[in-house]
Amino acid sequence: MKVLELCNVSFNYGNDKNKFVLNGINLSVDAGEHIAVTGETGSGKSTLLKVICGISIITAGKIKVVESDVNCIAISAVFQNPDNCFVSAFVLEDILFGLKNIGYNRAKGIDYAIELLKEFGLYEYKDCEINSLSGGQKQKLALLNALALNPKILILDEATSMLDNESARELFDVILKHQQNRNFALINITKKYDEIINAEKVLVLQRGQIVDFNKPEALISKNRYLKNLAPFSEKLAQKLINLDCDLPAFLSIKEVVK
Ligand SMILES: Nc1ncnc2c1ncn2[C@@H]1O[C@H](COP(=O)(O)OP(=O)(O)O)[C@@H](O)[C@H]1O
Ligand SMILES: [Mg+2]
Repeated sequence: MKVLELCNVSFNYGNDKNKFVLNGINLSVDAGEHIAVTGETGSGKSTLLKVICGISIITAGKIKVVESDVNCIAISAVFQNPDNCFVSAFVLEDILFGLKNIGYNRAKGIDYAIELLKEFGLYEYKDCEINSLSGGQKQKLALLNALALNPKILILDEATSMLDNESARELFDVILKHQQNRNFALINITKKYDEIINAEKVLVLQRGQIVDFNKPEALISKNRYLKNLAPFSEKLAQKLINLDCDLPAFLSIKEVVK
């Protein structure tokens, strides 16, 4: 079942009518699909999120989004700056605000919020002011809030960028576990190589246009941007493959050395 469709979508910010920040975007996303969106800074990734959420109104084209249901919203998003993701001053209250909007009463909401806080490693901060959290903790809370709303489409905009690599990986695994259980579509805007290769498909944006959209293993040795993003072990593996060595895709540095 399709949950999102963009047909020939274009957008400009109005300051320069001739400069399209998004230009002729076509995209179709199925329920449960996992798509990574990547590309250089300024390529239009965050703008794509804003037009899908309806925060920015498109200049041309059409966007169709699945409808929300009982206890389930259509789209939930985590914005690049986590400070734009909160409505309350305190951690638990902020989660309860979201849950109230999808029909939880306070007692049921508190039980569910505490379960999620433990899962995201934020339980000890439940009564803290959001302002007192670190950037990484704010990103965890923003993600928790977005997942708690039980979306059909979850869009993340560089949502683990303030976390160290290990914490980012752990958090991403929590998201993937929820995705498997609930089958929501995941659109992950990211520049992290290990998140990109985890997706079913990778969309590469360049100056507001889709320049590649394919499985990660089909793009990783072809797309210039992804080639540069690859860690040393992957670059070495690709060189060995070019020399006719029989290596599978996506090896760790230890496996390449072996
Ligand atoms: N509010 C805005 N007003 C005018 N131009 C903007 C605004 N936000 C972003 N842009 C411009 O749109 C382009 C795409 O930005 P953005 O979508 O943030 O890219 P990315 O997320 O890939 O870094 C950039 O050239 C940026 O300068
Ligand atoms: Mg951005």
